[in-house]
Parts: sequence; C-alpha cells; structure tokens
Amino acid sequence: MTKKINWGILGAGKIAGKFATDLATLTDANLYAVASRTLAKAEGFAKEYHFEKAFGNYEEMLTDPELDAVYVATPHVFHCQHTLLCLTHKKAVICEKPFAINTKEVKQMIAKAKETDTFLMDALWTLCLPHILKTKEIVESGQLGKLISVKADFGFVADFNPNSRLFDRDLGGGSLLDIGIYPALLALFLLGKPKKITAAALMGQTKVDEECAVFLEYEDGQTANLHSTLLAQTPIEAYVYCEKGYIHIPPRFHEGVAGITILRYENLAATFIPFDYQVLGYQYEAAEMMRCMREGKLESDLVPHQFSLDLMELLDEIRGQIGLIYPRHD
Ligand SMILES: NC(=O)c1ccc[n+]([C@@H]2O[C@H](COP(=O)([O-])OP(=O)(O)OC[C@H]3O[C@@H](n4cnc5c(N)ncnc54)[C@H](OP(=O)(O)O)[C@@H]3O)[C@@H](O)[C@H]2O)c1
Repeated sequence: MTKKINWGILGAGKIAGKFATDLATLTDANLYAVASRTLAKAEGFAKEYHFEKAFGNYEEMLTDPELDAVYVATPHVFHCQHTLLCLTHKKAVICEKPFAINTKEVKQMIAKAKETDTFLMDALWTLCLPHILKTKEIVESGQLGKLISVKADFGFVADFNPNSRLFDRDLGGGSLLDIGIYPALLALFLLGKPKKITAAALMGQTKVDEECAVFLEYEDGQTANLHSTLLAQTPIEAYVYCEKGYIHIPPRFHEGVAGITILRYENLAATFIPFDYQVLGYQYEAAEMMRCMREGKLESDLVPHQFSLDLMELLDEIRGQIGLIYPRHD
C-alpha cells in the first residue's frame, strides 16, 4: 500500500473541524498533527478529531520532518503569511478561501511555491465536487446549446459583531471574500474571464460590504448575475441558463447536494442526476491534492494556480468598484 500522507492543520477553528471530519474518510490520509496558537486548544482538537500530535505554535508543527501536507484554516488576512511559512518549510499546502486578500499576495504565494518546488493549492473545494464537474461537462457537451447566463447567490444572516472576522476589516470582513467568492468562482469556472464587471454594494458601519451584487458580461453576450449578503438568508442555489434548457444546482450549491436537475424547454422534461455525498465534501479537495502530490505535480489540475489568479483579479476589480479596502494589505 502507498504510504499515507501525514496531514497537519494550521489553525484549529470551525472550518478546520469540518475539514478534519471529511479528511478522516480518506484511507490514504493520516490525521497527523494540529497546530493552534494555544496548546490546550490544539490538544482538545487533536483529541476530538483523532490527530496524533498537537502543537501550541504554528511554526513548530512545520519543523516536524514527518509532516507532508498542511491545511491552512486561519482567517483570510493570514492566508498569505501562513502559506508562505508552510512553503518556506517545504510543506505542501492547501490554503482556505479566499486564497489571499489580493492579487499581489497570490502572486507572492505562487512565486514562493515555484522557488521552493513545493505543492500549492487554493482550497476551492467546490471545484472538486462531482456535481459541479458534471455541470461543466453537460455545458461543454453542447446538449443544452450555448451557455447564456449563470445566476448564483450566497446569503445568510450574520449577527453583527464589529470584532468578528465577518465584519472586522482588519480580519478581511465582508460578504464578498467570505461567501460572494462562491458565485464568483462558479461564473469563472463555467464562463471564464469576463470582458466587463459591474458591481454595487451596501457598505456597513465597519466599512465592509454587507451585501454585494455583481453583473459580468462576456465577449459573445453571455452574462452572470452574482449576489452575496450577510443580511438575509438566500437560497444559495445556482442556475445555468442555456439555449435549450437550464441546469439547476439546488441549495447549497457550493457543497455536496442530493443532485442536480436539467430542464429541457422542448418538452419541459426534467432530468434529475443524483449524487451520493456521505459527508460535506471537503475530502474531494484533499484527495485531489494527494493525487497530485503522488504524481509529483506542484499544482492541482482541478484548481490550477492560474484559476486562483483569475479569481483574485476578479475580486480585486469588484472591490475597487465598491470601495472595499483592506488598508493593511492593499
Ligand atoms: N471552505 C469552506 O467551506 C469554508 C467555510 C468556513 C470558513 N472558511 C474559511 O476558513 C477560514 C477560517 O474560517 P473559520 O470560520 O474556521 O474561522 P474561525 O472559526 O475563526 O477559525 C480561524 C482560526 O484561525 C486561527 N487564528 C490565527 N490568528 C487569528 C486571529 N488573529 N484571530 C482569529 N483567529 C485566528 C485560530 O486558530 P487557533 O486559535 O487554533 O490558532 C482560529 O480558530 C476563513 O478564511 C474562511 O473564509 C471556509
């Protein structure tokens, strides 16, 4: 049997727990280490999710020679810094979304990965999910004719707390980078880079976008309508409108769903394509990373570095239009 890959988690917060739960379903992954700024917290996390080692300092974990791969799960504003730290120690890294705060940081991360000859991946887990890949396959097959428009939303009611990572500008707050990134990545995945971007937002008292609407236009008349909000629960679904019908990705479109529906206008026939997700779906990105590492690749085929750059350029442009500034980074 191939040697198991020893995983480490950097930052023992909420998403780290979900990722660890799904990672445990992969037989070739070893839940090896977790690092927190607080040793007691790391120990509690290691016990709960069955990791072998706990560290009370991020860098200490990275000096462990047995560690192969790191999942960075800290708030947005630390992604670049923590990814660079992993790469400096030549540990393969998958970093949570948004990959960084801006394109300048993403370029730095990719350059460091190249310089150190180390694997680097943006944790855009949605792009590794079978129902999203199936949606793209259907569109590309041409069976529904030309793709005309993508519509996607992501909203929930966040209790206002100026010090939370959702509202605090110094922690990368706002709807766009936290959840608006999902509609944006779906549009980019299915339609590519737009020729024109128009964005508007409701900026809150902490100067971050509490709601954001984006309209994308493409060379041959295709469009995308994207919406994110921290002020209302929205369906969190996606529609892919084509000439001869549409594909509906039901709530919550960005994670494992029961299935997708294709509706053909010709006879109004609906076809349901089921998917059997036993867990949320974070194991697909981890499996993709391990497959690439075993093949000696330095980037993912499903989430290549160029996609991360294109996505961040799109987010940068939207931020420029709505006046969302992160003073410590921009
Ligand atoms: N892919 C997804 O579905 C998904 C879902 C939710 C969030 N995320 C992303 O994951 C990242 C973390 O989100 P989360 O919801 O897990 O946040 P969280 O619960 O606040 O956890 C973040 C962790 O980062 C560490 N950290 C280091 N410096 C920190 C600081 N100055 N302030 C606060 N925490 C700090 C902390 O871990 P220690 O105390 O252990 O050091 C903290 O527990 C975000 O970038 C978010 O976009 C992704």
